Amino acid sequence: MSTASTTQAPKGLEGVVACTSKICFIDGDRGVLAYGGIDIHELADNSTFEETCYLLWFGRLPKASELKDLHQKLAAERSIDPGIINLLRNAPKNVAPMDVLRTAVSALSFYDADDKKDDHDANVRKAIRLTSQIAMIVAAYDRIRKGKDVVKPDPTLSHAANFLLLLNGEKPSQTAERALDIALILHADHELNASTFAARVTAATLSDIHSSVTSAIGALKGPLHGGANEAVMHLLKEVDKNNANPVEYVRNMLAQKKKISGFGHRVYHTEDPRATHLRVMSHDLGVASGQPKWYEMSKKIEDFIKAEKKLNANVDFYSASTYHVLGIDIDLFTPIFAVSRISGWTAHIIEQLDNNRLIRPRADYLGPAYPQHWVPIENR
Ligand code: COA
Repeated sequence: MSTASTTQAPKGLEGVVACTSKICFIDGDRGVLAYGGIDIHELADNSTFEETCYLLWFGRLPKASELKDLHQKLAAERSIDPGIINLLRNAPKNVAPMDVLRTAVSALSFYDADDKKDDHDANVRKAIRLTSQIAMIVAAYDRIRKGKDVVKPDPTLSHAANFLLLLNGEKPSQTAERALDIALILHADHELNASTFAARVTAATLSDIHSSVTSAIGALKGPLHGGANEAVMHLLKEVDKNNANPVEYVRNMLAQKKKISGFGHRVYHTEDPRATHLRVMSHDLGVASGQPKWYEMSKKIEDFIKAEKKLNANVDFYSASTYHVLGIDIDLFTPIFAVSRISGWTAHIIEQLDNNRLIRPRADYLGPAYPQHWVPIENR
């Protein structure tokens, strides 16, 4: 008789190394995040989202002509089939944009010129196309649900500026464009986070990029992952609405054994380097827009959670107040995470397919010992 295994699989695969990758480096003890070896702080200070995409997809910074070429390709791909626009129009108006995005990305494969091709170059083309299209879908659905016209992209604008143009119907200020650009850089990749792992698992079956990205979007939506940024803003709004003391509010949540969204991380044991930038952005944009209260509330909560639980703010904590003062609706926060992370997802999918093997781990069986026997229903 074989008995249940006595080895303990690490819960949530904590500490398990599941693949090799050249895309993203994280040192959770020192709070280091780097794409292609370049520290995220340097990229946030100097780079653009487009350049970051190139770095993730091709493993190095682009030369000027290569960056220009990528800008042109992203601009050329800023078009979605009327079938997708119809899908957005037909979605019930109360559906969460993240759910619409998941379904629309899956449907994009119906209209993809490279749908039947899965070689490296076709996958790079699809990565560029999906990066342009996901931003368009998020913005277009928001306008459609508000009864507004879908806006045409402007090929002379950056990816960040185009997104804000498509969302708001007007060219953004330089401050808003740069703020979103930095946020997109910071969210672009994060090694084997849950959604990227989901994307790689799906890609490894030799399914297609659209299926892999759809898996990733489904994983990103959850409040333990990308959905946390929306949960943070709901918390801040609740505190504000009730004119509550933010510290007492979260103290009460902790007493009820509730988790505080935007804190804690599986990999970082110190400050999440992305939070360092977003904290400053939340402060500066809050002051500039005449709404410093969201930052002030956030900072009080951060100081308290750090002292009380020794938990650091993660990427989602200050992205919430940053996006809010940029005038973005709360239920677009997680879709905007996808607008950025599509670059990392596709880089990982391409890397997986370039050196593929099916991802198929084992489970530590803890059920009834083998063999048990089938019993006729009247004897159970
Ligand atoms: N608020 C309160 N307590 C938290 C917490 C939070 N945000 N994050 C972790 N903890 C506590 C847990 O309750 C647990 O305490 P216990 O050992 O007394 O039970 C301990 O810290 C370990 O947490 P755990 O959930 O097992 O860690 P993990 O590595 O599995 O989870 C996260 C990592 C990110 C899922 C987790 O920190 C979390 O749920 N954070 C809130 C959601 C969030 O912001 N997600 C976005 C991540 S970028």
